[in-house]
Amino acid sequence: MPSRPPPTPANGAVTRGAATLRDAYEAFLREHPAYEETAVLDTLRSTEFDRLDAQRQVYLDYTGSGLYAASQVRRHADTLLAHVLGNPHSVSPASAASTRMVDDTRARVLSFFRADPADYVVIFTANASQALKLVGESYPFEPRDLFLLTFDNHNSVNGIREFDRLHGARTEYVPMVPPGLRVDEAHLERQLSRRDRGHHNLFAYPAQSNFSGVQHPLDWVGRAQALGWDVLLDAAAFVPTNRLDLSAVRPDFVALSFYKMFGYPTGVGALIARRRALAKLHRPWFAGGTIQVASVQADRFVRAGGAAAFEDGTPDFAGVPAVALGLDLIDTIGIDVIHARVALLTGWLIEQLLALSHSGGTPLVRLYGPTTTERRGGTLAFNFFDPIGRPIDHHLVEQRASEHGISVRTGCFCNPGAGELALGLSRTEIEQCFASSPGRMTADDLRRCVDPKAAGAVRISVGLASNFADAYAFIEFARIFLDEVLDARHHPASTD
Ligand SMILES: Cc1ncc(COP(=O)(O)O)c(C=O)c1O
Repeated sequence: MPSRPPPTPANGAVTRGAATLRDAYEAFLREHPAYEETAVLDTLRSTEFDRLDAQRQVYLDYTGSGLYAASQVRRHADTLLAHVLGNPHSVSPASAASTRMVDDTRARVLSFFRADPADYVVIFTANASQALKLVGESYPFEPRDLFLLTFDNHNSVNGIREFDRLHGARTEYVPMVPPGLRVDEAHLERQLSRRDRGHHNLFAYPAQSNFSGVQHPLDWVGRAQALGWDVLLDAAAFVPTNRLDLSAVRPDFVALSFYKMFGYPTGVGALIARRRALAKLHRPWFAGGTIQVASVQADRFVRAGGAAAFEDGTPDFAGVPAVALGLDLIDTIGIDVIHARVALLTGWLIEQLLALSHSGGTPLVRLYGPTTTERRGGTLAFNFFDPIGRPIDHHLVEQRASEHGISVRTGCFCNPGAGELALGLSRTEIEQCFASSPGRMTADDLRRCVDPKAAGAVRISVGLASNFADAYAFIEFARIFLDEVLDARHHPASTD
């Protein structure tokens, strides 16, 4: 028997049948006794994240952003109040204090990811997108160079193709295979081996999809490098709940945002780069902080070395020390404990969602991506379908979820490649939609154009502060769509 009942979801609208919640939790624990080994996270939920239950909120958008623990904010305030911090890179006491804190945090980030400081440097950025842009704009693309990337990528990786095209290089996409939305490895192998050895070849992929939760194999890094590729790993969706060990896999570039790991600070990300890979990059400009010296009259400048050459202007020196506090939090709990809980809750959510069907037998949910917890993270993308199999507009789902105090995300989550494959949208269809929209096409225009297909999905994701009650609350919420016949406005085909 479970040692204690689960924390009850505070939102009155989703607690109908609290006994049922208890029953469900007991059944879950019987099936997954290992969940009890993650109990430290329940303690954390009631001490550090009590605002969730106090405000009757069910947060299921950890792929959008992690949540910060109360102590992170308090410890950060204490740190700020205990120091006089000035603009770094000078010898004054206030400046030296900031420089020291930023450099200590760099070292902390390297040790968290087990990266050898002789091999890697940490460049602080505003977010993962800026880290990705740094690589894109500085990579020495030339004609006949190749930028290879998976269909499954955030737009901040897709956007790098604009830089390679600017320099006459080629872009090639690695397709994924629906419904599992994984890459066909043999196909990837062929694409990797078609590189031109005398040219630059950059391969970019996400360690975890922000659309489907698919975890693409980390061993692609070494395989691609052995064939002469530079590898850019987008780790933004992976690192909040998985161990990234840079002593075991050594991508040339890793991009991430710290708020996705632990919610705070929101303005700091990193490009973790190998020194030898960084030496290949050519920044298209210089700025304050990135140079040793510059002259107007002599029209000359000398770049700073290492990370400094990539940090434009003043770093977020007051915010950066909060990164170390977030990493402390994860280390105190253990990333493996977080990973284990997320995997168990994800498995239960998949099982429950797929079991929901209308009384006529048609399934309520179509899940995009893997239907097991194998090689996947805690992100689930799906659509609800009505009793006659028409997709229910994801905007309506989000609106109703909000009314129930549940935070979900809808749309294509800035990952159009995964979305197009998952939803079965062909290139021709999409090209016709762009052609038929003479002005600037909006996401809603596309949605109407691909009628009657759903041009988007609902995404829920679990993380550090999630508990069974959150997962249960979502399944209870999903039940409200069972057997509900919605009017035409609530199907994507609608032109309203
Ligand atoms: C996989 C992935 N890459 C990159 C990003 C971009 O992160 P940011 O918006 O913090 O720059 C995101 C954000 O959702 C993401 O999920």
